[in-house]
Amino acid sequence: MKIACIGTGFVGVVTSAVFAKLGNQVVGLDIDEKKIESLRQGIVPFYEPDLSDLLVETQKTGNLSFTTDYSQGIKDSDIVMIMVGTPSAPDGQADLKYVFAATESLAPHLKDGAIVIVKSTVPPGTNAKVREIIKAKTSVNFEMASVPEFLKEGTAVADTLHPDRAVIGVESDRARDILVELHKPLTSNVVIMKPESAQMCKYAANNYLATRITFINQIADLCEANGADIQEVIAGIGQDKRIGAHYWYPGLGYGGSCFPKDVKEIAAYAKSINENDSLFIKIDDLNSKRITRLMAGYDKLVGGFAGKTVSVLGLSFKPNTNDTRVAPCLEVIPWLLDHGAIVKATDPKAIEEIKPLLPPKVEYLNDVYEAVTGASVVILLVEWDEYKTLDLSKLSSLMTEPKYFIDTRNQYDSKVMQDAGLKYKGVGR
Ligand code: UDX
Repeated sequence: MKIACIGTGFVGVVTSAVFAKLGNQVVGLDIDEKKIESLRQGIVPFYEPDLSDLLVETQKTGNLSFTTDYSQGIKDSDIVMIMVGTPSAPDGQADLKYVFAATESLAPHLKDGAIVIVKSTVPPGTNAKVREIIKAKTSVNFEMASVPEFLKEGTAVADTLHPDRAVIGVESDRARDILVELHKPLTSNVVIMKPESAQMCKYAANNYLATRITFINQIADLCEANGADIQEVIAGIGQDKRIGAHYWYPGLGYGGSCFPKDVKEIAAYAKSINENDSLFIKIDDLNSKRITRLMAGYDKLVGGFAGKTVSVLGLSFKPNTNDTRVAPCLEVIPWLLDHGAIVKATDPKAIEEIKPLLPPKVEYLNDVYEAVTGASVVILLVEWDEYKTLDLSKLSSLMTEPKYFIDTRNQYDSKVMQDAGLKYKGVGR
């Protein structure tokens, strides 16, 4: 099939490369000349395992190309996927200006019978607006569809190649058959529904996962108050098949490009329809206040951060990505500096990305052991593999008293830490 992918951000690049790998003719479209030029050379503007190789391979086979020319990209395409960014507007709702701008640009070039898929995460009602914009600019027949994307950063290629399911929102049997055929090589587990339901699936999935994380963080806080250990509690309740122990790592709260934004959007949407006591308003509030609340507790624990050298491990929002959007360090490090700490920081991939976003006082080191040298407190923020297997005696010998190790990802055992001469603090234990 001939596919145009509009928007060469994270989802756009991964989706274009994966559909090209399956043998489709894919054109990636973006108005950013520089980005298109670097993608043509196989250069991905962010770190994502396996993506660069896939990009080079699919361009070599001729199945994937990139352009800034809408006419060239759209005119022969059977399927047009809109995957542009939807930044948050000041009231928390999604700002759809890029979705509508892409729609205006694609409409005059649309082929008769084309299917236009909105893959960007958009609030209910967006498809109808996109349809009206297209109708005003062309008389060809076209159909609208919604196929939300569930990939995770850090495992995006694998997630797209082997999704748990494909959710396909369509209005006709014809569109259903074409899109089922397109997704067949990826999964036989296809769930068909109307486009409005497909869009809600994306919000529902992300809001559920964000709620799940918030839930376990709340239980972790209760554990701290009564001497229970959250990891033991998870092991105990996770055996219940209705619950499960997966995707339950307590910590400083969820971050990244999706959860904080999607929860705020659905909370704003709820308010816009007068659902003012929506659960999601509370989830957003709890997550937004979590870091400052926990930092105040850590400050007491270590006897005040003022004057102490603190080493921060992990600057991306999670492992295996250099994406720093809503990364915990963006709140933790300014908080530490405001409270008089001297901050040293390290990350395997995200140092250059984080530098412009943090105050210049922070000292960055590539080597984790150099980063902990002279520190009296280490705060582990991101569970990169490198930080899961630290040489604890070496680390301890490089630190100065009182040698606190604050493990916000619960990667270590307190007994092992004590044996190495470190004072351990996890989350919910
Ligand atoms: C998420 C969804 O998982 C994905 O389906 C959707 O398409 C986009 O949003 P992503 O943001 O890449 O993907 O990362 P994910 O691994 O889900 O983690 C999101 C945030 O939640 C991170 O800050 C992570 O550290 C945090 N998290 C995740 C927890 O705190 N605990 C967990 O148990 C899981």
